[in-house]
Amino acid sequence: MEVIIQPDREAAALLVARIIAHELRANPHLVLGLATGRTMERVYRHLAHMHKTEGLDFSLCKTFNLDEYVGLPPTDPNSYRFYMNHHLFSHVNIDPRNTHLPNGQAPDLDEECRRYEALIQRFGGIDLQLLGIGRAGHIGFNEPLSALRSRTRVKALTPTTIKQNAPLFGGEDKVPRRAITMGVGTIIEARRCILLATGQSKAEVVAQAVEGPITSMVTASALQLHPRCTVIVDEEAGALLREKDYYRWIFENEPEWEIYR
Ligand code: F6R
Repeated sequence: MEVIIQPDREAAALLVARIIAHELRANPHLVLGLATGRTMERVYRHLAHMHKTEGLDFSLCKTFNLDEYVGLPPTDPNSYRFYMNHHLFSHVNIDPRNTHLPNGQAPDLDEECRRYEALIQRFGGIDLQLLGIGRAGHIGFNEPLSALRSRTRVKALTPTTIKQNAPLFGGEDKVPRRAITMGVGTIIEARRCILLATGQSKAEVVAQAVEGPITSMVTASALQLHPRCTVIVDEEAGALLREKDYYRWIFENEPEWEIYR
């Protein structure tokens, strides 16, 4: 795992967007794993801007989102399909047929989960997976006690997650109780993972995920097993990391990061 600490949330999101852009230019057929949530909005704004001003080309790229709420139609502003169209897909030249999310309205949800896994395999697996982290330590909707080898499946949301997402729905009682999510095992099979966390409210869980023990109570900690995972935080989200100076030294001195400094 590598940790990069940026001065603020804008700089952290810009760095993530620049890494995605770099990978996409190197491989226009990139299979990109996407996340939703407030943290990612800035990343998508930067990518849309890069498309507009630098011609960043998404025409051959394929995307797979981590998750979708059970029961919400794509026209519901709180569905992740709606979110992706709104924040990214409608602003870039991606072919809508190349954008994939689990169907939270499928009549047979277990079958839908199997279909989604098989589709990812059919496209050769995910090259770069973008991740946020919830206050319960989740990646995707892999809530505490999710098996670290789990695959795409239906998960019940924890009270912490319901509370975290309630403002978007106008109340806790309106938040769907279940979601389809890629499993922890699905996620850590991606060839590269980038986790972005910003703001003070994420500081404790970031420290647990990065420097704590690997545990299904904090599913993001499973990323410690990944051979190529980069955690990008702003000063606030990185505030409780013990080895901050070491991480800064690596970012300043590692040749791989030269183009991003
Ligand atoms: C959403 C997802 C979640 C979020 C996480 C952080 O697709 O996978 O794990 O990334 O809940 O959400 P925000 O950014 O709203 O704090």
